[in-house]
Amino acid sequence: MRIAVLGATGQTGQFLVDQALQQGHVVTALVRNPNKLTVRHDNLKVVEADIFSVDGLKSHLKGADVVVSCLGFPISFFSGVTGYTRSMRAVIEAMRVAEVNRIIAITSWYTDPNSGTQSQYLIRFLLLPLIRSVLSNMWEMEQYLQQVDDINWTVVRPPGLKNLPSSALEFLTHEGYFVPGQDGYPAGSAMGRGDVARFMLSLLNSNTWLKKGVAITTK
Ligand SMILES: NC(=O)c1ccc[n+]([C@@H]2O[C@H](COP(=O)([O-])OP(=O)(O)OC[C@H]3O[C@@H](n4cnc5c(N)ncnc54)[C@H](OP(=O)(O)O)[C@@H]3O)[C@@H](O)[C@H]2O)c1
Repeated sequence: MRIAVLGATGQTGQFLVDQALQQGHVVTALVRNPNKLTVRHDNLKVVEADIFSVDGLKSHLKGADVVVSCLGFPISFFSGVTGYTRSMRAVIEAMRVAEVNRIIAITSWYTDPNSGTQSQYLIRFLLLPLIRSVLSNMWEMEQYLQQVDDINWTVVRPPGLKNLPSSALEFLTHEGYFVPGQDGYPAGSAMGRGDVARFMLSLLNSNTWLKKGVAITTK
């Protein structure tokens, strides 16, 4: 497949680009700093693009079968985080112009403000308040995508991320804001970025999570 990757220079994005190339896909990485992506491959094109600009994106999306977004934006205590919504609105509009119909985008467990009540004490009272500005804008982006009818989107929600390569671990999935274990409480709290990339790429051949958000973890 021809995959346009956003956030390709990030920690998850780099795993995703490597795996996509290994799987024989043709990748266009849309980045703000091409020098940051050191991997070279005949099937990899690296282009500089403004992720907030429809005009800056549309020509690079032309011909793609799917857009995969591993974009991430830092916590902001004062002004709020807007990168997720601003980039997604531009990307969706550019996809319409370029006639690309599929997008897979990463957010996180606990984007729903009411979803963290069963999480561990430290996560609930320390981590979630700390990263709330990021989660809130991810949540807004998810709400925006709920209104997008003409594009097949999937939101992938992982728990905490560790810088580990892809493994053979089994995935646990749940249509919700975390993956519950048998007791109803969150099943674990972290997984490897390589496995997140592996899951996102597995969706290329699946219609299971179209127009849905799926929480994931590994067993
Ligand atoms: N950390 C966790 O435990 C955790 C848990 C669950 C979900 N997540 C989410 O998972 C996603 C991926 O995480 P990660 O750790 O792999 O992210 P990351 O390493 O921080 O990578 C973020 C990517 O977004 C790009 N980006 C940010 N602002 C941009 C801009 N203005 N224009 C163009 N590109 C921009 C970065 O480009 P540059 O390389 O040029 O900066 C980079 O490629 C993020 O949304 C993160 O919030 C994280």
